[in-house]
Amino acid sequence: MQRTIVGIDVGTTKVCTIVAQVSDAGSMNILGVGLTPSKGLDKGVVVNIDDAVNAIATSIEKAERLSGYRIGTAFVGVAGRHIASLNSRGVVAVQRPDHEITRNDVARAVESAQAVAIPTQREIIHVIPRAYVVDGHEGIRDPIGMSGFRLEVETHIVTGEVMAIQNLIKSVQKAGVEIDDLVLQPLASGESVLTAEDKDRGVMLVDMGGGTTDMAIFVQGGVWHTSVLPVGGTHFTNDIVYVLHTPHNTAEYLKLKYGSAIAGEPPAADDTSDLIDAETLTVGEKQQISRHLLNEIIQARAEQVVELIYNEIKRSGYEGMLPAGIVLTGGAAQLNGFDELVREMLGMPVRIGVPNDLTGLADSLDSPSYATGVGLLRWGARHGLSMLGPTHRSEERQGWGNVYERFKGWLREFLP
Ligand SMILES: Nc1ncnc2c1ncn2[C@@H]1O[C@H](COP(=O)(O)OP(=O)(O)OP(=O)(O)O)[C@@H](O)[C@H]1O
Ligand SMILES: [Mg+2]
Repeated sequence: MQRTIVGIDVGTTKVCTIVAQVSDAGSMNILGVGLTPSKGLDKGVVVNIDDAVNAIATSIEKAERLSGYRIGTAFVGVAGRHIASLNSRGVVAVQRPDHEITRNDVARAVESAQAVAIPTQREIIHVIPRAYVVDGHEGIRDPIGMSGFRLEVETHIVTGEVMAIQNLIKSVQKAGVEIDDLVLQPLASGESVLTAEDKDRGVMLVDMGGGTTDMAIFVQGGVWHTSVLPVGGTHFTNDIVYVLHTPHNTAEYLKLKYGSAIAGEPPAADDTSDLIDAETLTVGEKQQISRHLLNEIIQARAEQVVELIYNEIKRSGYEGMLPAGIVLTGGAAQLNGFDELVREMLGMPVRIGVPNDLTGLADSLDSPSYATGVGLLRWGARHGLSMLGPTHRSEERQGWGNVYERFKGWLREFLP
């Protein structure tokens, strides 16, 4: 069976709407992509609804025109420094007299894991069961049908500020689209650039975008730690503006064309038309710029980002226990030498993750910038509202924010 799914990545620098046809077997045929510069966002969060609505609407229109598909609902990514996450365990006694574990037991266990104090200005975005424990036996992925007295579930819970979430929802709705579900951006990116084996072995996903760097650590197949840091590619550009006193577009141009996270490297650009000599660039109003100084500025910021990545690994408690290493994605992961810097500083395997296994208009998505957008589709295809037709979907949506309604949805998502 085929169905059409839409993902909208409302990023700090770009909005990207993707329409795809997915089959039950998991193949994904891209029907349309609508890309437009983002407006009204700061560090992953909507700060001006009207501007955000315009950008989102433009991106949606482009994707509709290209695909010939009228977009009614979409999976939408959420990020920003307001995001917080924690791990929580739920425990229940197995109910059936013969002690066979049922879906209902799992539901009650997950519900009890959710009984953690969430401040009133925050709401739950995800409750993701990671593993189950049956009568003390750890690491069970699917307990249904097993026998036991006591069922425990380990969950990863992601929360965000109500206002930030509402502003995002409002912006998408005002652009004429209802939300199938909100998905934490690094979890979406993980769907498109990590393999099941990466997640089993232990891996960290780092999505360095324009305004935020989003991270997710997976161990034994499940998500263990997530965080969103308010630093991204824009900070590199702003640093250049600040130190070299160039206009913003010049700084962005220099970064993209001559930037490197390792200051001593020779220039990577084939086109060296701005070079006076190997070390000196001339741009704009004949301003002369030392390539080495440019890259020292970039390296300083890159090192700071690597330190933040390291702090998150330490915070997760999995230092030295991520054999699959780090997968870098997001537009800013394309910074020359950044992967090498991460590898050198952290002594871990590092690769750059690009969405793959797509057909149709796939060429336009062949970049780390589209990890989140494609990941939203993968998330939708895997966990989404597969059993429901469009009319049911709208009922489902009215339940958004009603934790129990959504909770029933999550169960459908995470049980085989
Ligand atoms: N080749 C490159 N070298 C360095 N930086 C790059 C390169 N290509 C793109 N970038 C940077 O990537 C950033 C945009 O990345 P991306 O499209 O992933 O961001 P976003 O999804 O809009 O933002 P966010 O996820 O933070 O909300 C910009 O800051 C841009 O300058
Ligand atoms: Mg992004």
